[in-house]
Amino acid sequence: MRYDIITAGAEDFAAAIPDLALVLAACVANGAAVGFLPPLDLDSAAAFWHGQEGAVRTGEKHILLAVTEAGRLIGTVTLALAPQVNGTHRAEIAKMLVHPDARRQGVAASLLKRAEEVARSKGRRLLVLDTREGDDAERLYARLGWQSCGTIPDYALNGDGTSHTTHVMYRQLPPPPTGLTIEPAQPDTPDAIPLINALSADLAARFGSDGRGGLAGWDAVADRSLFALARLDGVAVGCGAVRPFDGEVAEIKRMYAVPGSAGVGASILAFLEAGARHLGYRRLLLETRWANERAVAFYRRHGYRITANYGPYANRPESACLSKIL
Ligand SMILES: CC(C)(COP(=O)(O)OP(=O)(O)OC[C@H]1O[C@@H](n2cnc3c(N)ncnc32)[C@H](O)[C@@H]1OP(=O)(O)O)[C@@H](O)C(=O)NCCC(=O)NCCS
Repeated sequence: MRYDIITAGAEDFAAAIPDLALVLAACVANGAAVGFLPPLDLDSAAAFWHGQEGAVRTGEKHILLAVTEAGRLIGTVTLALAPQVNGTHRAEIAKMLVHPDARRQGVAASLLKRAEEVARSKGRRLLVLDTREGDDAERLYARLGWQSCGTIPDYALNGDGTSHTTHVMYRQLPPPPTGLTIEPAQPDTPDAIPLINALSADLAARFGSDGRGGLAGWDAVADRSLFALARLDGVAVGCGAVRPFDGEVAEIKRMYAVPGSAGVGASILAFLEAGARHLGYRRLLLETRWANERAVAFYRRHGYRITANYGPYANRPESACLSKIL
């Protein structure tokens, strides 16, 4: 079974609520201990997810979706960033759900791995959760490196009026690549130029167009734009830019991470999104090629949604346009 894991932006999330309700209701009917008692009807399940919309919009919660090629939602997990000022390094894993007929194929493990990547990109290094003692989930977490800090008896109720013990677990994420810095820079900074050239050569070789126009006229819009340069131990390894498109909408341009530099692209994207928010933008747009499957998957993983081809790409069927509400 092939499936994608998507970080749901606000729009994706709202559209997915009926499917999320189906998965939640199916898991509860199947005996899951995830905050509800059976029977859970679809309206109540949908109401729960509607209640999450505000936190998804503000970025306090990141909800990941596992979606098959045929578009069926088969699993989800929620990463809730701790809102406390002394908890900005911490997040909680919740509503880890895989539809009963899609289990034991690694879906939960993939969702959790992606949740860890999102957590790290948001500066979180400690994850916590609780799970019913003896459930499949407890084994899953242990296998993925979670530590147990013990149990709490009589923690939650079962459908038959008895109660169960919960297992409290945590996971300290390995530190991000040391020496990775991402800073605003000018696109003509000497160590940015070879990166931009490498990106252009790569795009030209693979898709016949080098995208060099992406930074044209930069000086005229520099005060509403941001160019980010990533350096690993002082060596430039990636870049990306945000520039104005229309009103509160900005466009991402020239995203590049040198091959083999795991995690650099995600870090640049997070930096650009924070910078765009700071500049007053509310939405980001970008164009890539459908043939650039890795790029399309990368942006979808980070909450970008396919949108109608805009501006210069309107009549270009080879162009894939994506957008994200900030
Ligand atoms: C817990 C839960 C999320 C696991 O989902 P899942 O997608 O089945 O999880 P995975 O496939 O990653 O792992 C489950 C098992 O399948 C095995 N597996 C993974 N890929 C496999 C494959 N291709 N072939 C055979 N087995 C496979 C794993 O090794 C694991 O085995 P183990 O439990 O014996 O160690 C799911 O059972 C669920 O939704 N439960 C109800 C909700 C719940 O309790 N959530 C947790 C709240 S804290």
